[in-house]
Parts: sequence; C-alpha cells; structure tokens
Amino acid sequence: MKVLGIETSCDETGIALYDNKEGLLAHALYSQVETHQQYGGVVPEIASRDHVRKVLPLIEETLKEAGCALSDIDGIAYTAGPGLVGALLVGASIGRSLAFGLNIPSVAVHHMEGHLLAPLLEENPPEFPFVALLVSGGHTQLIEVSALGQYRLLGESVDDAAGEAFDKTAKLLGLPYPGGPALAALAKKGQPGRFTLPRPMVNRPGLDFSFSGLKTAVRTLVSKETMDEQTTADVAHAFEKAVVDTLAIKCKRAMAQTGLKRLVVAGGVSANETLRSTLKKNMEEHSVSVYYPRHEFCTDNGAMIAFAGCKRLEQGLQEPLAINVKARWPLEEI
Ligand code: KG4
Ligand code: ZN
Repeated sequence: MKVLGIETSCDETGIALYDNKEGLLAHALYSQVETHQQYGGVVPEIASRDHVRKVLPLIEETLKEAGCALSDIDGIAYTAGPGLVGALLVGASIGRSLAFGLNIPSVAVHHMEGHLLAPLLEENPPEFPFVALLVSGGHTQLIEVSALGQYRLLGESVDDAAGEAFDKTAKLLGLPYPGGPALAALAKKGQPGRFTLPRPMVNRPGLDFSFSGLKTAVRTLVSKETMDEQTTADVAHAFEKAVVDTLAIKCKRAMAQTGLKRLVVAGGVSANETLRSTLKKNMEEHSVSVYYPRHEFCTDNGAMIAFAGCKRLEQGLQEPLAINVKARWPLEEI
C-alpha cells in the first residue's frame, strides 16, 4: 500500500510517499523560515498562503522522485491538527479532495502521533510499549505508548513548550528566528558553569514541566550582565543545560514510574545534540534504550504523516466525505 503524506500544520510544507512493503519511497520539504524571519515568528496568514503555493508542486516532485503516478497511490494521509487552523486546512482540503478524485481512502493524522511514530521509520525501530518524550515548538509531553493509538499522558508543560522556551530565549539573546538551532549552536561556545539557571519543577513530584520561569530567569540575567559575545554564549549554554537536565530528570522519573525500558524522543527539540548525548548517557545507566528519528525527521516533515497515516489505514480507519481540522486536539482523544 502506497500512502501519500501531507504536512502543513505550521511553517513547513512536507510531502512524502510511504509504501508499507518497501518503506519510504520519496519525500520533499519546503521550509518557510526565511519568509517568517523578518517578523520574528510565524505569521499564520502568510503560512497558509505559502502552503497553497507549495503543496501541489511538492506532490508532483515527490511522485516524480519515487517514479510513481497519482494512480499508484492507495491512500492519502494529512495532518488534521493540532496546529494553525488556516495552514491545516490547506493540507486537509487538498488531501481529502485528491483522495475523493482518485476514489481512494484518506485519513486525518494527529501531528504529535506523527512525531511519536517517526523513530519507527528508522532501522532497529522500537517495539511497543515505550515512553515517548515529545518536545516541539508547541508541546512538551511524556506519553506512555502501549500500542498504536493507545496513548496515556504522563505529564506535560503547564506553560511554554521546550521549543517555545528555546525560541523565546533566543529572541532575548538577539538571535534570529527560529531560535532553537541558533541558540544550540551558540551554546557550544559557552563556558560551562559560569552561570547556573534553575531546573524548574524538578523538586516537585510528578511529570509535568514548566519553562516560562526559566525564560524569566534569563531575562533577569541579561538585564544584569554586559552582554558581549562570550557572555551571550555562556547564558545560552546555561539555558540549554537547564532545559536538557530538566527533561532528563523527568524522563528518568517516567521510566521508573512505568517500569518500561524503551524511550522514544521526538519533535523539533529532539534534534538538539546536548539533549541526545545527555539522555543517551543517563538512560544507558538505567538499561533504557533511547530511540530518535533521523535529524531531518525530528522537525516537521511529510514522512512521519505518511507513515502514521499508513498505520491508521492498515487498521481500517478512514475519513468520511468531509474536511475537518482541529487547532487543539489532545493526543489521548484519537
Ligand atoms: O516539531 P517542530 O518542527 O514543530 C512543531 O511541531 O512545533 O519543532 C520546532 C521547534 C522549534 O521551537 C525549534 O526552535 C526547535 O523545535 N528546535 C530546536 C532545535 N532544532 C529545532 N531546539 C533546540 N535545539 C535544536 N537543535
Ligand atoms: Zn511538529
């Protein structure tokens, strides 16, 4: 079964063709980062209009790369939420209509389920059950994954998501949007131990996170220090370390609480090298195996949507003849 995946939930147009026997056949991505950079963040209306321009050419490009025609597609998967409603509607409208025109099934995919299943596209994929740490621009969640579609929320951020904290702190430090990768690059030049920032909520029981206080702590530090190049790098280093340590402490707690031995880490922030190396070290000490998507599939992409959609279609799930998207959509409700 060949499934076309369409991702348009935010500022990336992602298209992919996945075959349940042959694996990923082709994928294409267009990032709107440069378009939004001048505004310091994503402008929803501009995002929607850009998806309209890019979706069809990218579908053609993907099919060409795979050596396939529209008539070879057996199903279409599109992100139906959570995300920017106008942006979501572009992928959903095109996906649902194309499936109607081709007389094939379509399936609405939850964006975070896409992220959560992305490591299953890799060699040696994790088996169920596992714990998933989802760290993106909109979400920070720990989820107990018993099987496909069986998700129990163990904890989540009560305020900013980890990626959002990276982006807002980067802005405070004068770095361009999107701040996460820029801050991570700068943190590499930082002097370890010059500044120490709080690890929010680690002394409280439970698996929830809070990152907005950390951002405030950075603001206070920035207002006190002379922010030359080295000091900026030192603050970036301290911030990254505080976020990574906090995530690692909660992951350790989640593994102990569930007794599971596999941890999946996905979403944009899972591309962060310090997070990857810290978790690898901490988890190995507890005989827990850690699984990540390849770098390009940590951030938004069409491959994870094609894959999650294929799994859903295999289960016999499909959309009625209607176009529905949800800006907010709890993962436990799917
Ligand atoms: O999953 P994603 O592409 O989009 C959402 O679903 O939100 O995640 C984007 C987020 C942004 O906040 C971005 O700054 C962050 O992931 N990010 C990173 C890194 N790469 C992307 N944060 C820290 N370090 C990175 N290397
Ligand atoms: Zn995402």
